[in-house]
Order: sequence, then structure tokens, then C-alpha cells
Amino acid sequence: MTVEDFLKGDLQLLIGPDWAPAADGRTFATVNPATEGELAQVAEASAVDVDRAVRAARAAFEPGSPWSRTTPRERGRLLWRMAELIERDADQLARLESLDNGKLVRAARDGDVATAAELFRYFAGWATKIEGTTIPMSSERTYHAYTRREPLGVVAAIVPWNFPLLMACFKIIPALTAGNTVVLKPAEQTPLTALWLGRLFLEAGFPPGVVNILPGFGDTGAALVAHPGVDKVAFTGSTEVGKKIVAAAAGNLKKVSLELGGKAPNIIFADADLERAVAGAALGAFFNEGQCCVNGSRLYIERSVYDEVVAGISEAARSIRLGSGTDEADMGPLVSAEQHDKVLGYVRGGLAAGALAAAGGGERARPVGYFVHPTVLTSVTEDMPVQREEIFGPVVTAVAFDSQEEVVALANDTRYGLAAGVWTRDIGRAHRTAAALRAGTVWINAWHADDVTLPRGGYKESGWGRELGSFGLDDFTELKTVVTDITP
Ligand code: NAI
Ligand code: MG
Repeated sequence: MTVEDFLKGDLQLLIGPDWAPAADGRTFATVNPATEGELAQVAEASAVDVDRAVRAARAAFEPGSPWSRTTPRERGRLLWRMAELIERDADQLARLESLDNGKLVRAARDGDVATAAELFRYFAGWATKIEGTTIPMSSERTYHAYTRREPLGVVAAIVPWNFPLLMACFKIIPALTAGNTVVLKPAEQTPLTALWLGRLFLEAGFPPGVVNILPGFGDTGAALVAHPGVDKVAFTGSTEVGKKIVAAAAGNLKKVSLELGGKAPNIIFADADLERAVAGAALGAFFNEGQCCVNGSRLYIERSVYDEVVAGISEAARSIRLGSGTDEADMGPLVSAEQHDKVLGYVRGGLAAGALAAAGGGERARPVGYFVHPTVLTSVTEDMPVQREEIFGPVVTAVAFDSQEEVVALANDTRYGLAAGVWTRDIGRAHRTAAALRAGTVWINAWHADDVTLPRGGYKESGWGRELGSFGLDDFTELKTVVTDITP
């Protein structure tokens, strides 16, 4: 199917075996952030639809259902098939993601879509390797004890708009690998690739009800989180909503995993390979239009190389060409008017408080489209909102430091703890600093060095739990202990 035909068709809810309009018939517009034009109307799920979808997911999970009888080998093959279908449709998925989110088609295809396929392959291998252990007990009597890893049940996946397809995959894939069923709520800004993904799940042969997809706004997500038939919520988004989810999950004490905000410090020591450090700092600051929770948005630069590094990253910022989708460009627009205004508001607030723009600034980049100039702020103090709060746009601050002790204290003085980075040629200092940083991921002489095998997640208010790797799989299982008295 072409992207054009897809957008002209009915974009509905996937509940059980069928696509259906919302029970109350409501729809909402999804918008192209490069043109501000409407792309399509999409069905908007209400609490009634949430209830139907959770029931469908529950029925699909119950003992005796086709999914519950699927062997690990069959699950692995279904997941592998998804990787093939995603690669077959890579061009359409990349174009849709670009239209809906604003990122360049090339970035979507080589990044989001390619990684989604890779995730299906990686977890396809795990389906046959979910194991318990036998445990020699310490007591006098003779027992045989072992553990089993079992699925949790119905997983609600609530995801944001910065990597719409990929964030959905981060949650759905390990959930299915472990034998759960899923209700996915994509972000209201970017529902399209989730709907295409739903078509692929049906085509691959997943039984009805195993994956349900409900586009909608925050209240759709809230209805899912409050539903007593949901066993786990897997969420990526703002820290503010993460806290609401924790409170709302208390009703049936459903499990919760959270990947929330960040304000990652990126530390550059004077002895670093500065060419690589500057390139890495620019990647860390501006990747995905700066809309990435692990972006390095606070640069700390050793004083003797401060001017050189600031000049380098400012040069990199100025050389980034803005453009849309298929343009010869390096960066697209931000996702929405709301994010555009939020990011410019932070920059203007910072400038008003005394910060200086070494590149970019608070001007609207284009009359149409949510484009923002990559921005480097200097003369920043630690108490400014631009330094303390997650901006979630192509904006980086630069602060000078004098000692390792000082910079570690500054780096850790945040409520967040998702990622951090350190650039140095001194291997001892690199690892001492890595150990001292309170963050879920520390990159040394690298940024965005991600992989499907590596656990990721946050310290402090950046979240609960870890995603990906074997650790991420464990989070979608219950651990059962079985003990037998085998005393003669
Ligand atoms: P958000 O946290 O409101 O939205 C994320 C998802 O949660 C969306 O699917 C949304 O519909 C849903 N949601 C909203 N309220 C909910 C509720 N009460 N219960 C259940 N689900 C709910 O994030 P938003 O408003 O799009 O962006 C605001 C800020 O959050 C950004 O500027 C950025 O700082 C941060 N953010 C962080 C992300 C990350 O990757 N960690 C991703 C997106 C945003
Ligand atoms: Mg919100």
C-alpha cells in the first residue's frame, strides 16, 4: 500500500481482530509539522474503547487462547516475520514517520525503521531463551526448588512522539516475546506508524487481540492506566505524566516501568580528542531535532579549552541546514506548535536572564513549519531554567569547569539521571568519572552509542526499570518459585 492510499483510508482503532471507528465516532487531526497542514483524521479512543481493547487483550491472554498455546519457537518466528515485513515496508514507514513527526526521511529509515526491524530480530532470539533456574535450598529437609519466568498478562504501552515507531517497538516487542498481550496508545501528535504496524501484526499472523492499538490523547492513556484489567504500564514520556501514572496505577498495583525526562551532562576534559568531542557534543545536542531524552543538553568544558569547544560546536550548529522530509537537509522541524513555542520560550527566557547565544537564538526560523535554529547558550548559571529543566529541542548550554570534583558535583546536581558523557584520553579518569555520575547510561568518548543488547533507563526522576537487553525482558515477566518436598 502506498502512503497516499493509507492516508486516504480509514485510520481506525485496532481492537481484537478488527479495525473499528471509536465508539463515539470521534476523530482528531494529525498534522505535518513542516507545513502545519492536516495529514489525516484518526479515530480517537475513549474510555469505552479502552475497556473493549483491554477485554480483547485479556481474552487473547487467557489459558486456552491461541496465543497462550503458542510455543516459544512459534513466537520467535512471528517476531522474525515482523522484522521482514518492516524491512519490506521500510520506505513507506520512513515517509509516514517523517510526515507525522517532522524528522528527515533518511533519518527515519536508517535510524527508527532499521532499529525497529533489528529489535524484532534480537527479541525473536530471546523467545526460546526465557529460562528459570534451579536453586539449591539451604534447609535440612530435601527440596527441589526452581523458578519460572511467566508473562504478566495485559501490558499497556503508552509512548511519545519523538520516535513513534521505535518507542512502540521498545515496549510491544519484549512484551510479546515474554508471552504478554498489549494495548498500545501512540502519542496524539504521531499516531500513523503505529497504525501501519498494527496492519503488519495482523499480516504476520499474530492471533486477534494480542496487539490492540488505540490512538488518542492523554485521557485515553489515563483510562488505560486506571483500568483494573491491565497488569503493567510501560511508559515513555514526561516526568510529570510519569508521576501521574504511578499514582493512578495504585488501584490494582499494576506494575509500572517509566522512561522519563533527562538533562544529560556532557563533560569535556582538556586532554580529550577535541575534534571528536566537538562532533560528539553536536550529535548529542542536536540529534533528532534535540527531541531525545538522552541528549547531552548540558555541556561542561574544562576552562582551558572552553573557547575552542564553544567555537567548534557553534560552528557545527550554524552549519546544520533546516529542511523538511526529503529535502537536502540536516534537521527537520520540531513535532508541534506546542514544542516549538516551548523551546523558543526557554531560549528567550535564558537570553532575558543573561545568557548569550553563540549560535541560534530565540527567533522563529521560518514563517511556516515548526523549525528552530540549533542554539548554543553561554554565560549560563546553574539556577537558570535553561540549565535545570528539560528543553527537548536543539538547544545546548555550555559552562566552564576547573576540576573533576567540581564537574561531577555540577553534573549530578539535577533531578534527572538518564544519560551522561565524558571525553578524555585519561582512561583512569574516564572510568572514575563514569562511576561517579548518577545516570543510567554513561558514554565515554562517544554519544548515542546505543544497541538493542544494552539496558537503558534512568536514575532518580528519569524513571523506573530498564529497557532492552535481557534486563528489559525480565521487566515483562513475573518470577514464580516452585518448591517440592522430595524427602524420601
Ligand atoms: P507527555 O508525557 O504528556 O506524553 C507522552 C504520552 O503520554 C502521550 O502518548 C500522551 O498522550 C500520554 N499521556 C499524557 N497524559 C497522560 C496521562 N495522564 N495518563 C496516561 N498517559 C498520558 O509528553 P508531551 O506533553 O508530549 O511532552 C512534554 C514534555 O515531556 C516534552 O517537552 C519533553 O520535555 C518531555 N518528553 C519526554 C520524552 C522522553 O522521551 N522521555 C518524550 C516526550 C516528551
Ligand atoms: Mg503532555
